[in-house]
Amino acid sequence: MAFPILLVKLTLLALLLSLGLAADNASMDSCIILLNCGGSNQYDDDDSGGRTWDGDTTSKFTPSVGGVAASATYRDPSLPSMVPYMTARIFTSNSTYSFPITPGRMFLRLYFYPAAYGNYAVSDASFAVTAGNLVLLNSFNASQAAMATNYVCLVLEFSVYVSSSSLDLTFAPSAYLNSSYAFVNGIEIVHTPDMFIADTRFVNGDHIDYAFQLPADIGLQTMYRFNVGGQAISPKDDSGFYRSWDDDSPYIFGAGYGVTYSRDSSVTIMYTPAVPNYTAPFDVYGTARSMGPDAQINLNYNLTWILPVDVGFSYLIRFHFCEIQYPITMVNQRTFNIYINNQTVEQDMDVIFRSGGIGRAAYMDYVIMASGSDQVDMWIALQPDIATKPQFYDAILNGLEVFKLQVFGTNNLAGFNPPLPEYLDVNPSRVPSSARKSKDAIPATIFSGGCALLLITFLSTCVIYRWNKVAKSCYKTDCEHLEVESHHFSFAEIQLATKYFDEALIIGRGGFGNVYSGKIDRGIKVAIKRLNQGSQQGFHEFQTEIGMLCNFRHGHLVSLIGYCKDKNEMILVYDYMPHGTLRDHLYGTRNPSLSWKQRLNICIGAARGLHYLHTGTEQGIIHRDVKTTNILLDDKLMAKISDFGLSKACTDTDKAHVSTAVKGSFGYFDPEYFLLRRLTKKSDVYSFGVVLFEVLCARPVINTELPDEQVSLRDWALSCLEKGVLKKIVDPCIKEEITPECFRIFSELAKKCVADRSIDRPSMDDVLQNLEVALTLQDNSSCPGEPSSLQIIGLVHSDKASTHSVISIGAQEEIFSDIMHPKGR
Ligand SMILES: *[C@@H]1O[C@H](CO)[C@@H](O)[C@H](O)[C@H]1NC(C)=O
Ligand SMILES: *[C@@H]1O[C@H](CO)[C@@H](O)[C@H](O)[C@H]1NC(C)=O
Ligand SMILES: *[C@@H]1O[C@H](CO)[C@@H](O)[C@H](O)[C@H]1NC(C)=O
Ligand SMILES: *[C@@H]1O[C@H](CO)[C@@H](O)[C@H](O)[C@H]1NC(C)=O
Ligand SMILES: *[C@@H]1O[C@H](CO)[C@@H](O)[C@H](O)[C@H]1NC(C)=O
Ligand SMILES: *[C@@H]1O[C@H](CO)[C@@H](O)[C@H](O)[C@H]1NC(C)=O
Ligand SMILES: *[C@@H]1O[C@H](CO)[C@@H](O)[C@H](O)[C@H]1NC(C)=O
Ligand SMILES: *[C@@H]1O[C@H](CO)[C@@H](O)[C@H](O)[C@H]1NC(C)=O
Repeated sequence: MAFPILLVKLTLLALLLSLGLAADNASMDSCIILLNCGGSNQYDDDDSGGRTWDGDTTSKFTPSVGGVAASATYRDPSLPSMVPYMTARIFTSNSTYSFPITPGRMFLRLYFYPAAYGNYAVSDASFAVTAGNLVLLNSFNASQAAMATNYVCLVLEFSVYVSSSSLDLTFAPSAYLNSSYAFVNGIEIVHTPDMFIADTRFVNGDHIDYAFQLPADIGLQTMYRFNVGGQAISPKDDSGFYRSWDDDSPYIFGAGYGVTYSRDSSVTIMYTPAVPNYTAPFDVYGTARSMGPDAQINLNYNLTWILPVDVGFSYLIRFHFCEIQYPITMVNQRTFNIYINNQTVEQDMDVIFRSGGIGRAAYMDYVIMASGSDQVDMWIALQPDIATKPQFYDAILNGLEVFKLQVFGTNNLAGFNPPLPEYLDVNPSRVPSSARKSKDAIPATIFSGGCALLLITFLSTCVIYRWNKVAKSCYKTDCEHLEVESHHFSFAEIQLATKYFDEALIIGRGGFGNVYSGKIDRGIKVAIKRLNQGSQQGFHEFQTEIGMLCNFRHGHLVSLIGYCKDKNEMILVYDYMPHGTLRDHLYGTRNPSLSWKQRLNICIGAARGLHYLHTGTEQGIIHRDVKTTNILLDDKLMAKISDFGLSKACTDTDKAHVSTAVKGSFGYFDPEYFLLRRLTKKSDVYSFGVVLFEVLCARPVINTELPDEQVSLRDWALSCLEKGVLKKIVDPCIKEEITPECFRIFSELAKKCVADRSIDRPSMDDVLQNLEVALTLQDNSSCPGEPSSLQIIGLVHSDKASTHSVISIGAQEEIFSDIMHPKGR
């Protein structure tokens, strides 16, 4: 293992420097303290590479700390690891951990899982934390910080300098509340060399002091640490201090995310005495983001990151640079300007000049005041420097770190609790107007989808998500749709996102136009549908689609992220659906075949989406174009209904119909609609019935190459069902898997859906219920005859009462007897 050696060396160095002040205990050789607060014995965590944590009830470090050990009452499923999060130490009065340490600089990481601990309510926790004299947190409300950031757990990282041989960490419950308490789940201490106080550039208005030095004992809090253009790096892969490096793309402004790349295989990363290998791991220097190959585009945009920060503090910003690809080996091939908060802090930045050659690592530090009372966002931007006439008009960045600095001359590092996003905010007055303002200033963050991004503009107390993996699993998706607003994109943004409508990015073509995959701001992948220009009909459908999707949001409807109407364009931007359409997984495809259960789940999801459309809104919506190419699948194969261009609102209740010209797709038409021009919700049910047969049989709904009686899937399936030979035309891939009970209920349901007369068809609600029953019957096939099976029958049975019951009593009895007397499969 590389880092313990490094750390031992550092210890020795620190010892020499401190002239042997501390009589070190042998147990501290590793210089790492990992304390699982409230826990006992030793346990490995599940997520940072299985590091071993000492329980603080049995550890040598904390015999006198006081407080009570407690366990979280509830384990959130997105919690990345039991250790150290599930146990905590609770303090109702000021209490201090005294860690024997070697004097010097160290990372101090505090782990919090805001949850109820026995009788201690989650909302009562409010406390200060001080390290020695330095106030790290004040009136800290962990639950609010977690809510505001939409994570279930928080890891805060500080770098502190301790001159004595003990680090005293004090937890003090807020005095202004009687019931308040303090808690902590985990404490990690890792020694480091003095990595921050060497030459920095102090930016003060127009004046830049090039040889500024930070005070040796300054306290810092990590705000951001990015492996720019590369993947997240977890603590175990860091070069020494168990730092985590995140993906920077969520913080990139606008659609100008540039291009990412990694080093040419012949390039090796070289560290220097000025840039030792612990500065950043290989992978940080070995990957980069640049502006792109097109000089003209590069001159017209700034590669910009927007980083929300606490007001009233100074920040240390560290840029990591390394040229890693040929042909850039010489000075003045690629030079660029660096801006912080719109101010030029570096002109003519030339990485080769600064580092001494290709593959050589370099970093540059700047200290800047985030002055002004309403500034919450730090802007960091790169732009080619044309003054020096470099060979390439481009810029490059490999890594970026941002640290909040202790206010000079004070002992404070604590910011405010981050205000909650508006939809969660119980007390709106707590949201500073500046935060609201900044939200408007960056429309980019509003529509980017998840709460984790949303919070960025509001984030003022810093929260570091240490592991990208962890961060993702910590991320709650339940409020995904609450804050999403449709955004108006400019045509230029769309052009950038689709690389000028690059043919290679086309993922779908149709009469309406093409669908491209693309990336918008922060690297979010989207599907971009560009409708053919100038078509009146297209325009109408475009408007309908925007209207529909802005008003109706549901987990089983595809989400509209935005649209573009510039220059007569009609462009819609959707969530990207990695698995494409349902049809792509049924036939005529190289995709692996879906299992029967996956198909059932997809049908259930689609039915939920349609049911929502029919009933979730006041008047109800008829989709009018239900088919397997309009059912999309996300990364988890969850179904999302798409394409609302033909949708119509019902004007009345269930009996309502809309007279209209026939539109829709051949093979899925409701015959009643076709003949009588009567459009009802049952028209969607009919089409959905056809979808059910398509899913079961995996063949096109119309296939003119087949004998006449087989051309229409619906007619052919009905006649097979009539003759009791439907099983013969079931997709062979699922024939074995599907259980007889499930098969029967499913085929009966499909048959009812495609009934000639709309009155004979079930409602979407009935369809949904029966599909769910079908799934249960499939699920529990392995243990037929268990008493609980009766409940299922009961459900179907009670369903019979409803006017559009799907399953006849006879059919139920057959199912029942099947379950009671299972036949071999
Ligand atoms: C070292 O450890 C021993 C017991 O393990 C303890 O008595 C002693 O105080 C420790 N010394 C320091 C400097 O922490
Ligand atoms: C912490 O924040 C939450 C959410 O804003 C709030 O409900 C709770 O009352 C706060 N607790 C304290 C002690 O301020
Ligand atoms: C507890 O600590 C806080 C802040 O550190 C301090 O203001 C307060 O006086 C302390 N209370 C007691 C009883 O020592
Ligand atoms: C806090 O406790 C004191 C004395 O026990 C009591 O007088 C006061 O009303 C309490 N305040 C609140 C807000 O409960
Ligand atoms: C850093 O360099 C030292 C030698 O200077 C070496 O012993 C150590 O393994 C290196 N660490 C890493 C993480 O590469
Ligand atoms: C930088 O400039 C942009 C637009 O020119 C503006 O929106 C933004 O607020 C500025 N940022 C700062 C930190 O001043
Ligand atoms: C890049 O940012 C700088 C500083 O904010 C600004 O002066 C310049 O106009 C920007 N350039 C472009 C092309 O946006
Ligand atoms: C089906 O299985 C699930 C999970 O094993 C169980 O919860 C459910 O009660 C079962 N239902 C029936 C009707 O057997």
